[in-house]
Amino acid sequence: MNDEQDRDRLDKDNREIRYMNTVIEVNNVSKTFGKGTNLNRVLDEACMYVSEGEFVSLMGASGSGKSTLLYLIGGLDRSFEGKITLCGEDIGSLKENNLSKLRLSKLGFVFQFYNLVMNLNVEDNIMLPATINGKKKSELKKELDEILEITGLTEKRKAMPATLSGGQQQRVAIARAILGNPAVILADEPTGNLDSKSSQEIMELFSKLNKEKGMTILQVTHSEKCASYGTRTIMLENGKTVG
Ligand SMILES: Nc1ncnc2c1ncn2[C@@H]1O[C@H](COP(=O)(O)OP(=O)(O)OP(=O)(O)O)[C@@H](O)[C@H]1O
Ligand SMILES: [Mg+2]
Repeated sequence: MNDEQDRDRLDKDNREIRYMNTVIEVNNVSKTFGKGTNLNRVLDEACMYVSEGEFVSLMGASGSGKSTLLYLIGGLDRSFEGKITLCGEDIGSLKENNLSKLRLSKLGFVFQFYNLVMNLNVEDNIMLPATINGKKKSELKKELDEILEITGLTEKRKAMPATLSGGQQQRVAIARAILGNPAVILADEPTGNLDSKSSQEIMELFSKLNKEKGMTILQVTHSEKCASYGTRTIMLENGKTVG
């Protein structure tokens, strides 16, 4: 094999490896809100890719469509043009029950507001989605212990949410999102409500989940500091992604 053929083969191998490891693919996705003459084209043929093991930050002005894009990727909103592939599945063509299964097995969501159930303690909040989906608490014990440890909540496992700081409550929400060991975490302004010290703790936790558990993370943030914990930043501008 000559040098040129060798290079071609390497290029092809690289392309295939990249393709195999792409966990989020957004291809020419457009999203329009409104009706008639009152149309708001928030996403305009946006394209982006996230590979396995990346920790990507999505940034852009308020109203630029970051949350909209994240919800489309997570299958929470299914009306869009273009194609979105998540862990190899074309989410636009999945039946509702298969999309739910995909979300349950592969995705963890974290939002700006922690959405905890105030009359359940920390560990019951963390286990809630899994128990709703038919898991017994006893089956979850080993994984729960590990997750409490990694999120630094072991001491607080019996505490009620109202007795926790904002940063601790967000850690409970993250623990809930990662029970079941999802491949991907989607986070919409996870530190939007937190002071800088708590924000730093949440970013350190995300870095740890990314590095030690190999979770792929896509977070929306307004903070350059938070974005700097990630491996790459994508900007959303005029309905298109840059970077
Ligand atoms: N359900 C909806 N119905 C109509 N318009 C919507 C809806 N959701 C979002 N929009 C509009 O889409 C645009 C993008 O909203 P989006 O929430 O995605 O922005 P964002 O980049 O997340 O902003 P922020 O940084 O303030 O959270 C805004 O103009 C918003 O008003
Ligand atoms: Mg938003």
